[in-house]
Amino acid sequence: MGDSQAFGHLLVTGGAGFIGSCYVRDVLGRRDGTRITVLDKLTYAGNEANLAPVRDDPELAARLTFVRGDIADPAVVRPLVESIDAVVNFAAESHVDRSILDPEAFLATGVIGVHVLLEACRVAVRRPRFLQVSTDEVYGHVEAGHALEDAPIAPRSPYAAAKAAGELLVRSYVVTHGLDAVVTRGSNTYGPYHHPEKLIPLFITNALDDRPLPLYGDGLQRRDWLYVADHAAAIDLVLRHGASGETYNVAGGAERTNRAVVALLLERLGKPWSLVRQVEDRPGHDRRYAMDGAKLTALGWRPSVSFEDGLASTIDWFQANESWWRSARSGDWDGWYERQYGRRLANGLAAAPSSGPGD
Ligand code: NAD
Ligand code: DAU
Repeated sequence: MGDSQAFGHLLVTGGAGFIGSCYVRDVLGRRDGTRITVLDKLTYAGNEANLAPVRDDPELAARLTFVRGDIADPAVVRPLVESIDAVVNFAAESHVDRSILDPEAFLATGVIGVHVLLEACRVAVRRPRFLQVSTDEVYGHVEAGHALEDAPIAPRSPYAAAKAAGELLVRSYVVTHGLDAVVTRGSNTYGPYHHPEKLIPLFITNALDDRPLPLYGDGLQRRDWLYVADHAAAIDLVLRHGASGETYNVAGGAERTNRAVVALLLERLGKPWSLVRQVEDRPGHDRRYAMDGAKLTALGWRPSVSFEDGLASTIDWFQANESWWRSARSGDWDGWYERQYGRRLANGLAAAPSSGPGD
């Protein structure tokens, strides 16, 4: 275990996104005097409204600085890195389906952007600690058992490949330049402020509108679900206590098939299974992600929210925050939706069972 570190000033990149904004709200909300500078490009996935609970509290707002900019732009990044104690890098393109249709931005942010951040840390007068937020997707499909941190990485989507490349760059800067850096690999995260392109918020918001729910393939793919505040807490623990050069799995401990997730969600919403449409699968779709979380447990973290409670409160949040998700489904949302789902929904999946949740 590394020594506990206290950080007065953090640079949080991607802090206007889903998990990054939760991290910012929670760290500032501890009211321990920590200051945060958020650097965020505000892509379609970034939303300053995700930081509204901070803006609405004068004491918290006084400790937040927001900079709109690109982590791949050294002119923006270098001066920011000079004045901080640690970088927590959430910034990434995060949606696997988009990485299949348009991979370039994934490489620009996930590879070049990470490199720009690392270089800025390397040349800084007072080098900050660096935490790279990565993903269980770097292990690829896990047939059986649970992946340990030293398992080979085998990414299978452009998203996962870019995330793996980012991690490898971090490792290279630790080994070659002695940078103080750690990596976390989180499992499938869900909760309030989740962009409605992802499975759980897409299906909640479509179901609220009585629109079809496009389930890929047989829906028996398995994911390990992690509540967003638990993920943010794990990242903060690793930032403060993780040993430099080490990687930590953040496993939700709630492995479910997609069908089981959708069945629970529909039951909670009081909506029928007949909304589900089985559609053509995602190319290269990983059947199962599963990690061993013992290394992080040894640091003192465990999930505090069960999947059933987390899903219920997530559904409540989406029901109470309709203007937030309707606004996230504006801009180029309709064009995206048609491109991703138009043909799939028109064609359906003739051979698949569609009568009920099953498992
Ligand atoms: P998100 O898409 O909601 O947020 C990403 C944020 O990064 C957005 O605010 C966006 O504007 C910003 N951004 C994108 N490109 C940028 C750039 N070039 N410069 C500056 N800002 C940029 O993503 P998320 O779900 O919150 O994921 C955050 C991080 O956690 C990502 O690195 C992702 O790979 C990782 N992760 C996500 C999950 C999950 O289930 N959501 C699980 C494990 C790991
Ligand atoms: O595992 C961690 C990863 O989890 C993160 O690194 C990614 O940033 C995050 O987006 C998430 O990736 P997934 O691809 O697992 O999440 P998504 O919500 O896109 O899909 C979850 C499962 O649901 C997956 O098996 C695909 C399926 N799915 C998804 C969508 C959007 C459907 O069946 N239909 C859909 O419309």
